[in-house]
Amino acid sequence: MAGEAVAAAWVYGQSLSSRPKSVITHRSYFTSSIDDKKKTAHLLALDGAKERLQLFKADLLEEGSFDSLVEGSEGVFHTASPFYHNVSDPQAELIDPALKGTLNVLRSCAKVPSIKRVVITSSMAAVAFNGKPLAPDVVVDESWFSDVAVCEKSKLWYMISKTLAEEAAWKFAKENGIDIVTINPGLVTGPLLQPTLNTSVEPVLKLVNGAERFPNTTYRWVDVRDVATAHILALENASASGRYCLVGRVIHCSDTVNILRDLFPALKLPEECADDKPFTPTYQVSNERAQSLGVKFTPLEMTLKDTVESLKEKNFF
Ligand SMILES: NC(=O)c1ccc[n+]([C@@H]2O[C@H](COP(=O)([O-])OP(=O)(O)OC[C@H]3O[C@@H](n4cnc5c(N)ncnc54)[C@H](OP(=O)(O)O)[C@@H]3O)[C@@H](O)[C@H]2O)c1
Repeated sequence: MAGEAVAAAWVYGQSLSSRPKSVITHRSYFTSSIDDKKKTAHLLALDGAKERLQLFKADLLEEGSFDSLVEGSEGVFHTASPFYHNVSDPQAELIDPALKGTLNVLRSCAKVPSIKRVVITSSMAAVAFNGKPLAPDVVVDESWFSDVAVCEKSKLWYMISKTLAEEAAWKFAKENGIDIVTINPGLVTGPLLQPTLNTSVEPVLKLVNGAERFPNTTYRWVDVRDVATAHILALENASASGRYCLVGRVIHCSDTVNILRDLFPALKLPEECADDKPFTPTYQVSNERAQSLGVKFTPLEMTLKDTVESLKEKNFF
């Protein structure tokens, strides 16, 4: 997906209220696209933006691009990293911006003594793809790390990009003595602040927008507002450390359709699965650590309701 980030805008929204100076990495808000009002209008409209939001230009792939931006900051949220599926050059489109970008941001941060912590948006993509079989009684937790060799066999390029980036971040943090925390969300959905559709909201749009069949897949849902809260808590809570898996609920797409049917009985929703194979399994993702951080997960029903209403309001269907 090209386009903008669902989560970063919400992190902006929550961090503008009362926070110390912090930097959020996101090209839409930092590069030449800051001249593109379509990409920034929703940010400039946030409460407190007039007084507290400044947009700067930076590129993940440009060495030193973040140096002057992070100077004087107390915290940095590194959220920028592309997430889309149809890639023609995975190295250039996904892996370089994720891996080199993370190291580039961390190198800038390592030069700034005022930075107390860097919160990195990693992903369940860097957690759950290690080849271990998944089943309803399996609990995935922060001790899991995706395996690049396993991902390569299935051409899971985005998973590889996030795994390499997170591994490199931990190594760099250890070697350079900087404090990082990673947030590892599942599929982020919820109301859109930005005017464009992003990869993780697309599956909901497809379901409500006349699809005849639903995919045989299991989703790890998390609400974008919970993801934003987790980022803020991870920065502000001095005792936060390590990785935090963020998944509210893991359900098969057929059950997602059932929830949507209850919420929106008038909508035409797919009745059949796209294939005749057994349904992909559900499993559990531990939310012990996320809860210890203070995250209270939004019920999936509310997330899906708010997502669909937001898509409608923005004329996506
Ligand atoms: N969405 C999810 O379900 C989900 C789940 C788990 C983790 N995450 C993580 O959350 C973060 C945001 O994801 P997203 O879904 O919002 O992804 P996205 O829509 O693809 O947004 C990626 C952002 O990164 C920016 N970017 C890409 N290349 C860049 C570069 N070279 N220099 C500077 N900025 C660059 C993009 O700017 P442009 O818009 O200008 O291209 C865009 O703002 C990522 O770290 C992603 O891995 C997302």
